[in-house]
Amino acid sequence: MEGGEGAPPGGRREARRPGPGLSARSGAGSAQRSRWGLLLTGVAGGALVAVYAVATPFLTPALRKVCLPFVPATAKQIENVLEMLRARRGSLVDIGSGDGRVVIAAAKEGFTAVGYELNPWLVWYSRYRAWREGVHGSATFYISDLWKVSFSQYSNVVIFGVPQMMPQLERKLELELAGDARVIACRFPFPHWTPAHVTGDGVDTVWAYDASTFRGREKRP
Ligand SMILES: C[S@@+](CC[C@H](N)C(=O)[O-])C[C@H]1O[C@@H](n2cnc3c(N)ncnc32)[C@H](O)[C@@H]1O
Repeated sequence: MEGGEGAPPGGRREARRPGPGLSARSGAGSAQRSRWGLLLTGVAGGALVAVYAVATPFLTPALRKVCLPFVPATAKQIENVLEMLRARRGSLVDIGSGDGRVVIAAAKEGFTAVGYELNPWLVWYSRYRAWREGVHGSATFYISDLWKVSFSQYSNVVIFGVPQMMPQLERKLELELAGDARVIACRFPFPHWTPAHVTGDGVDTVWAYDASTFRGREKRP
């Protein structure tokens, strides 16, 4: 009797034991799986970092003392702004210029237009749009905090702000602007100035103020 009880024939034992070829193949398979794992982890990590980098500048305004989020002007709002600028010339600034639409529209009307914007992605996009629309020579965008910039050199100022910032901005512009400047407020008016003109309805309302009427006002508390 070959082998005896419990000793299977050599052929069957051979079939059950993994040979060196099989072990090498499974080793290669697991190395490949771990390479894929590393690649997927890298791609997922890179995607997360990219989403974080793009989203952060859009979310951080909510953490500031005055939250001024990116809300683009409507086409009607821009039309109203341009109407308030009719017969005016020279330099123009959009304070918090978003994706550049107001600056580009003003540049197309012949203004030397500048936008200050905190969000770098929006500034880069604005520059691209200005280039695509052929006004990059007269539309300039800066990555800047509006509270750290002087607007004294601009004769036309556009602001689409929020009510909480208007009193402080009003004081800043009173101190900085020349007597022949015009300020256009979109959607939210300034609290103390008297507008020279108002146009539009609802969210598209814009107010035009002339510096000649608000400069040299009595000091407010
Ligand atoms: C209501 S949006 C107006 C965008 C553009 N002016 C328009 O009318 O389409 C306000 C913009 O101000 C920007 N902003 C917020 N805080 C700012 C700051 N401290 N300095 C400069 N820009 C700021 C926001 O990123 C946003 O794009």
